[in-house]
Amino acid sequence: MRRLAVATVMAGVAAWSVGAASADPTKPASSEDGKYADADGNPTYRIDPDGKVDWYTFSGYRRYHSECHVCHGPDGMGSTYAPPLVDSLKHLTYGDFIATVAQGKKDVGNGNEKVMPALGENRNVMCYLDDIYVYLKARSDGALGRIRPENHDAKPQTAKDNETACMGP
Ligand code: HEC
Repeated sequence: MRRLAVATVMAGVAAWSVGAASADPTKPASSEDGKYADADGNPTYRIDPDGKVDWYTFSGYRRYHSECHVCHGPDGMGSTYAPPLVDSLKHLTYGDFIATVAQGKKDVGNGNEKVMPALGENRNVMCYLDDIYVYLKARSDGALGRIRPENHDAKPQTAKDNETACMGP
């Protein structure tokens, strides 16, 4: 009798966590060696209740602030020159994002000369573009504040291997 009760409670807990996972779109659906993906298989962030983030979110914070913030402002907040990516990521898909960064973008016909440079040849950007995406996604979803996420996972071996392969000798 007692065992049955415990089993029932356990089943209830399991059912609850499955339900909670599918009800929360910001929760990663899968992960592989510390890299998280959403239900569509696109990269996403993981943030623990104590604020600890996955490696890629932290790495993205650093890369964003070395390659993008000059134009797009600190923490993705935008500037007078370039739009706030915190807002852009609410409507851009992962594919849109990658293509825009690689190919660049220029609004023509509205009298402005503002240009998003094509960064497809820039390894400091392209080798870390998923990192930058998940960082901005966390900012855009309101899951991460305007902070440097110091509390983060260690760098996964896969990240080290991909970096070596992508950056070259
Ligand atoms: C030299 C300044 C500059 C730099 C550096 C820069 N951008 Fe941009 N970016 C812009 C401007 C200006 C636009 C708006 C272009 C337009 O709408 O015509 C833009 C647009 C974008 C867009 C499209 C936004 C939307 O709402 O459609 C994305 C995505 C983007 N940038 C990502 C990045 C990322 C990621 C980096 C860093 C790897 C970066 N940019 C670096 C100037 C810059």
